[in-house]
Amino acid sequence: MSATDHIRIFDTTLRDGEQSPGCSMSPQQKAVMARALAELGVDIIETGFPASSLSDREAAALIARELRETTLCVLSRCLPGDIEASARVLQAAAKPRLHVFLSTSPLHREHKLRMSKDEVLETTARNVAYARSFVDDVEFSTEDGTRTEEDFLAEVIGAAIAAGATTVNVPDTLGYTTPAEMRGLFQRLIAGVPGAEGVVFSAHCHNDLGMAVANSLAAIEGGARQVECTINGIGERAGNCAMEELVMALKVRGAYFEADTRIDTRRLVPTSQLLSRLVGMPVQRNKAIVGANAFAHESGIHQHGMLRHRGTYEIMNPEDVGWPSSQMVLGRHSGRAAVAHRLRALGHPLENEALDRVFADFKSLCETQRVVDDVDLQRLMQGDRVGDGYRLASMTVSDRGQRASAQIELSDPDGLRIIESALGDGPVDALFAALAAATDVDLKLESYQVHSVGIGNDARGEANLSVRCDEAEYQGTGTSKDIIEASALAWLDIANRVLRTRQPQRMSAMA
Ligand code: KIV
Ligand code: ZN
Repeated sequence: MSATDHIRIFDTTLRDGEQSPGCSMSPQQKAVMARALAELGVDIIETGFPASSLSDREAAALIARELRETTLCVLSRCLPGDIEASARVLQAAAKPRLHVFLSTSPLHREHKLRMSKDEVLETTARNVAYARSFVDDVEFSTEDGTRTEEDFLAEVIGAAIAAGATTVNVPDTLGYTTPAEMRGLFQRLIAGVPGAEGVVFSAHCHNDLGMAVANSLAAIEGGARQVECTINGIGERAGNCAMEELVMALKVRGAYFEADTRIDTRRLVPTSQLLSRLVGMPVQRNKAIVGANAFAHESGIHQHGMLRHRGTYEIMNPEDVGWPSSQMVLGRHSGRAAVAHRLRALGHPLENEALDRVFADFKSLCETQRVVDDVDLQRLMQGDRVGDGYRLASMTVSDRGQRASAQIELSDPDGLRIIESALGDGPVDALFAALAAATDVDLKLESYQVHSVGIGNDARGEANLSVRCDEAEYQGTGTSKDIIEASALAWLDIANRVLRTRQPQRMSAMA
């Protein structure tokens, strides 16, 4: 392998990714995503499966008219009608690729295709040749390839190459293989199949056992020069190989793999966030590279190490993947060094007893609040205990009739009672409208998630909100036995922060 080996990134977010439950996209959404993928620098975009739906045909044709620099690929079964539908949408493409697939494993041959080995061989050759009559760039995939008898798999691949396939993809369709098996399989196929030296071998790994990225990297070690992957690892069942993880593994461990991609890695986080917004699927916080916690440090020992040298607890720079910086999250596990560092950055270089006093207040605040932000620290500096602000006294929410209604009672920062009510498109909408009217704070909701924490009788609902307000982003959390009440607490958590942020501004405006 030479030091400059280029691994082609074949993105299938818009085809295999879109097949994951709840991730379907309109043609317009796919076009937005395709533009982002082209900017990211992927080599090939699989835009859809034209024979499967009108929406897939529209999306593929729309993208083909627009993107001229990236190879655009569409999927077909080994059926003349599928190949013709694919060829039609590719007519507008500047760099078209036709992707044909057929199952090869014994289970699929017997139960899905009802074909003998000879029939699989003949069907492969006939359809690859037919695809080649439309375009020069034809990829052939052996579906369930890794559960196929190896000698038969080699025969099918040989037949596809002889019929004109230019890329041969061996999918681990069920996410069943291990890295060592994958590496060996690619090594033997590339060494043994006639004509292998003239084509690109590709891996397409699913994540059923959480090994999709490891298996794709192993395929590269075995000689694959194309990897099929998706943004955020979305895809059928447990998903596909996550592009951001594969790309960064190759970059960070470049000396080990001696191979790299042409991805502009600084666009990985923005592209991940765009997909998450388009399909409405949040990225798990601890997801490698693109999860919100991927570069966040809370424990005192780690923060101390990071303040001395970031290499102690980071193997890559957050800026290199598109995050603005590492994050020192101040919370229950943080130590004096990190609190002192943050206070210094805020203009309060405290030491000795002064630092002890603020640190003690910080620790007691952490008993009631998960994350302590800059506004909280400023308040601690002023000697104020954070915790005042609007408090929920009671609430009634009803979802009968045409519109939901909510009535709330709050105590304001001076302890006075406020009662408000509002209507909304659902109980939570009505609740948030009543809270906005009572506090005079207008929060633009960006995401709202509820989930259960704890087990059995101790289980509670936790609501997490992300909002925009006064041109800043805020996150808030509320926990309660009742998820509607948890939502109100999360909303008030943010509103109180917004009001604390506004307070110094008001004071300086008056001065
Ligand atoms: O997982 C798979 O086998 C596929 C093929 C159609 C390439 O997605
Ligand atoms: Zn797949």
